[in-house]
Amino acid sequence: MSKSTEDLQAGFAGESQANRRYLAFAKRAEEEGHPQAAKLFRAAAHAETVHALNHLKALGEIKSTSENLEAAVRAENYEAVTMYPGFVRDAEADGNRQALRSFQYALAVEKVHESLYRKAIETLGKETSNEDYYVCPICGYTHYGSAPAQCPVCATPGAKFERIS
Ligand code: FE2
Ligand code: FE2
Ligand code: FE2
Repeated sequence: MSKSTEDLQAGFAGESQANRRYLAFAKRAEEEGHPQAAKLFRAAAHAETVHALNHLKALGEIKSTSENLEAAVRAENYEAVTMYPGFVRDAEADGNRQALRSFQYALAVEKVHESLYRKAIETLGKETSNEDYYVCPICGYTHYGSAPAQCPVCATPGAKFERIS
């Protein structure tokens, strides 16, 4: 791999992280009554997304939807089968309860994502309905169709789920 390809990957990771970090900081700024600082965080967050997407495009990692769904299955499978189980063990060994819960939520939900992506590969181009997805704001559990009564991963009421249409 060339040095500039490595740099694009590192740049994509860093810019993606900066985006989410600044959005989290913006939320905190709003809560603390600093709307101007919140706005700056949101503006910079948006710019970091522009940078991240430029890097990803330069990497050639945005392909056809069919290929992208396959890539998504591989990524979710790696997280669910290898990465998060290892992280869960590390958090248990360290006695870090907050990390453990965070990893357990992600582990449970990445499995669901893998299965949703696999289904999407089967039905791509032959969809007969256009259902929405619902996402749990606490654990990220992702549900197809309509919100469940209660999140099966973290028990948050379905009424709190965010609809993705
Ligand atoms: Fe940037
Ligand atoms: Fe995922
Ligand atoms: Fe949940």
